[in-house]
Amino acid sequence: MEELKVKHLLGIKELSKEEIQLIFRTASHFKEILNRPIKKVPSLRDVTIANVFFENSTRTKLSFELAEKRLSADVVNFSSSGSSVKKGETLLDTINNILAMKVDMLVIRHASPGAPHFLAKHVDANIINAGDGTHEHPTQALLDTFSINEKFGKVQGKKVAIIGDILHSRVALSNIHALQKLGAQVMVCGPITLLPRHIQKLDVKVELDVRKALEWCDIANVLRIQLERQQIKYFPSLREYSLYFGINKKLLDGLNKEITIMHPGPINRGIEISSDVADSEHSIILDQVENGVAIRMAILYLLAAKRPDYQPELT
Ligand code: CP
Repeated sequence: MEELKVKHLLGIKELSKEEIQLIFRTASHFKEILNRPIKKVPSLRDVTIANVFFENSTRTKLSFELAEKRLSADVVNFSSSGSSVKKGETLLDTINNILAMKVDMLVIRHASPGAPHFLAKHVDANIINAGDGTHEHPTQALLDTFSINEKFGKVQGKKVAIIGDILHSRVALSNIHALQKLGAQVMVCGPITLLPRHIQKLDVKVELDVRKALEWCDIANVLRIQLERQQIKYFPSLREYSLYFGINKKLLDGLNKEITIMHPGPINRGIEISSDVADSEHSIILDQVENGVAIRMAILYLLAAKRPDYQPELT
């Protein structure tokens, strides 16, 4: 059986092109199952998974939980609000207490970059990064590139512009790694204050004019302004940001081509994207969400298959 080389999914940086393609093939299989009347398979029936979220989430949390349940895993959910973290318990103590209850795999979202990497060094369970601060969000990048592959039949050669708050975005970094490994060309676009100073070192094109970015790309992945991570003002007002960097129908109608619109969510309608673009026929935003379940099933299945004590069936 083909398998991942990694024990944990910490970031896209650690995955090879071949491993990403294996995840895609496995996700395609699970997507076919998800479209059957009976969507559940017994593949992870003896595996217990904890979803440990120290930051808010709608899509990632529900998508992981559904993926786990569709694979027949036993699932427990932890949210830092209302937990003993508030009483001063350390991250490692919290995790070790969860793992003491015979948990095999841990899905973690944390505000601190590197938190999943730290845990991977200290615990035996498989760690899956569901977003670590401004660092990486590997499952988001996998579902994004899977969605591009599904729509175009390939990622190789596609021109993808990532537009918005690149500085605070874990989605941007994971997408840059995934797109480049799969042979796409990547551009980042946003106000200069929201572009990391050394972004060129990642071998991406940089554009400050959103119209030029749209003229260049086949696909625009529009990112949210992450106000919750901004300690200072990076632009004068949201109104001004929307005026200069918001993606709206008038802007798209002015291009002499059609481009595909993506967004990882949550959307701030009327700020980085207008409703008539988010809800248009060119938007694949809800396809991304749908594909997230199959991608997460694939990752859970492939990581469980690496456990010495367990050989899950693909079914
Ligand atoms: N895309 C994403 O990570 O969304 P959530 O924060 O709702 O999980």
